[in-house]
Amino acid sequence: MRTLYFLAVGLHLLTAIFWIGGQLFLALAVVPVVRQPAFRALSPALLQAMGLRFRTLGWITLGILILTGLINLAARGVTLELVLDPAFWRGAFGRALAGKLLAVALVIGLNALHDFWAGPRATRALAADPDGAEAARWRLRASWLARLTLLASLMAMGFAMFMVRGWP
Ligand code: HEM
Repeated sequence: MRTLYFLAVGLHLLTAIFWIGGQLFLALAVVPVVRQPAFRALSPALLQAMGLRFRTLGWITLGILILTGLINLAARGVTLELVLDPAFWRGAFGRALAGKLLAVALVIGLNALHDFWAGPRATRALAADPDGAEAARWRLRASWLARLTLLASLMAMGFAMFMVRGWP
């Protein structure tokens, strides 16, 4: 069980790094660059291609985070019986876990809105009329959903630290 625990924590950390790092790279490196005049003609197609690739990898990553997260909990002795005991959620670890699971639920909800609602409509509107009001509206919605997904992911990371190290 100890080897499985270390493998699960290692994979959990690696996927958390990929998920948060990938979002930061897209927001801080990719989007500002493809918006430069030199790449303007290519940017809708480039953003769509990279967005679709990261969308697939993102959902695989979230699946791995949930699976390894459950293994981490089991390895730390968190049983179903314990989870059903209200006293568990009043403790320091339980409160941090509650905050983390709430943040993860936000990540999944916001990411789904971005990937399956605002993102595809922004791509279609940009392809139809890059300078139109429709494109600008959907692009704004998609980028705000992406920012909120990143914020919720950082909250999940923060609560994870409180789970492992106690509250500050
Ligand atoms: C967006 C999703 C998630 C992110 C970004 C994330 C991030 C992290 C990070 C950065 C750590 C290491 C914290 C540290 O060592 O200070 C961690 C640990 C942990 N995470 Fe997650 N996590 C996510 C989802 C989940 C889920 C869904 C679960 C449970 C079902 C979970 C359970 C755990 C547990 C139990 C640990 C402690 C591992 C240990 O024993 O050291 N995580 N997480």
